[in-house]
Amino acid sequence: MERNVELALIERALAHTAADSREMAAEVVRRPVADYLDPSRLADERAALFGDHPVVVGHLAQLSSPGSFFTHDHTGLPLLVTRDADGQLRAFVNVCRHRGARLCTEESGSARRVACPFHGWTYDLAGRLRGVPNADGFDGLDLDAHGLVPVPVAERHGLVFVRPRIGGPPIDLDSVLIGIDDDLRVDRPEGNLLALRHWEVGCNWKVLLDNFLEMYHVPVLHGSNIGPMFEPNRSLYDQFGQNGRRIDPRRSIRRLADEPREDWRLRSHALVTYFIFPNLQMFWTQDYLSWLSVWPVAVDRTVCTQHIVADWEADTDDRRAHLHHNLELFDLTLAEDFGTSEGVQRGLHSGALHDVLFARFESGAAAVHSSIDLALERRHRGEPVDAWSARD
Ligand code: FES
Ligand SMILES: [Fe+2]
Repeated sequence: MERNVELALIERALAHTAADSREMAAEVVRRPVADYLDPSRLADERAALFGDHPVVVGHLAQLSSPGSFFTHDHTGLPLLVTRDADGQLRAFVNVCRHRGARLCTEESGSARRVACPFHGWTYDLAGRLRGVPNADGFDGLDLDAHGLVPVPVAERHGLVFVRPRIGGPPIDLDSVLIGIDDDLRVDRPEGNLLALRHWEVGCNWKVLLDNFLEMYHVPVLHGSNIGPMFEPNRSLYDQFGQNGRRIDPRRSIRRLADEPREDWRLRSHALVTYFIFPNLQMFWTQDYLSWLSVWPVAVDRTVCTQHIVADWEADTDDRRAHLHHNLELFDLTLAEDFGTSEGVQRGLHSGALHDVLFARFESGAAAVHSSIDLALERRHRGEPVDAWSARD
């Protein structure tokens, strides 16, 4: 982020630590429990948010050279994302045009061509059909008309966005990155992919999102690991259209009050988190970037993926130990989040609650539900779901 933004955020945090106060939204928000249980609501959300809306499917570090590719299976549309021989970023439906087999069966790799495991049709990474065994049996098949089916793809700040909709319009990244584009331009998440992991969790995707989008639970649920590092429930939250930025001061930030402003560094004393609508939560720590994405599978089933990217490699014992330590910390806290979220889902199914509550200091979690409502309304009206503006 720009230096003036960084200094203003530190001042905001110090004002609240000095006054023992916290930022509050205008009102408490209630959401109906049915939103987390209703299969037709989930079908609408999947169509609007994981079909019509662009989502981040990976990082450029996964496509480091021409000929590299990765597959992605969490949007409902099987995807093959490539950097073709000319270096061009592309995305396709990962389905063979002969009879519909899954084309690329690897998670990632590098190749000149991809061969279908069923009958051996081959495609290059620009999606062109290049080889058909025993082609004479197809009566002069037009290869050009049987290339892979493309979907819109775009990249900015290393993040690879796909709109998982066949025939969908191009992606407007200015709209998708409203409010956080300038920050990411300065702190561009570049470098190496240090980890890519995934978990399956027995809860609605929004239960996990709610959990990730507030720090109220951190001193309690994570009291034995990361809890004590942070100022308790002292988040600074800024909503920009559908996206958000949350600053979670560490206890060490209090020291800055006695240090010269030119030495103030936000990331040394706070976790800086961005929410990219609809499903991505990105954390900047001192020396790496991590993001968690949630992907609905069923009303009570969600896949969570984690990327860790850094401008260093885990190529020495010290760095490997550092990475290992951080992954262990994530494992500990995520196990608490996942276990609790599965319990929440059972609680919502119990019929004991008609709605759930978001406090005035849980405004990030509350805001995402309004944005989801707006996207679903737009879809029902036949409007583009991702025509965001800073006023939304
Ligand atoms: S389905 Fe791919 S070659 Fe037959
Ligand atoms: Fe948590």
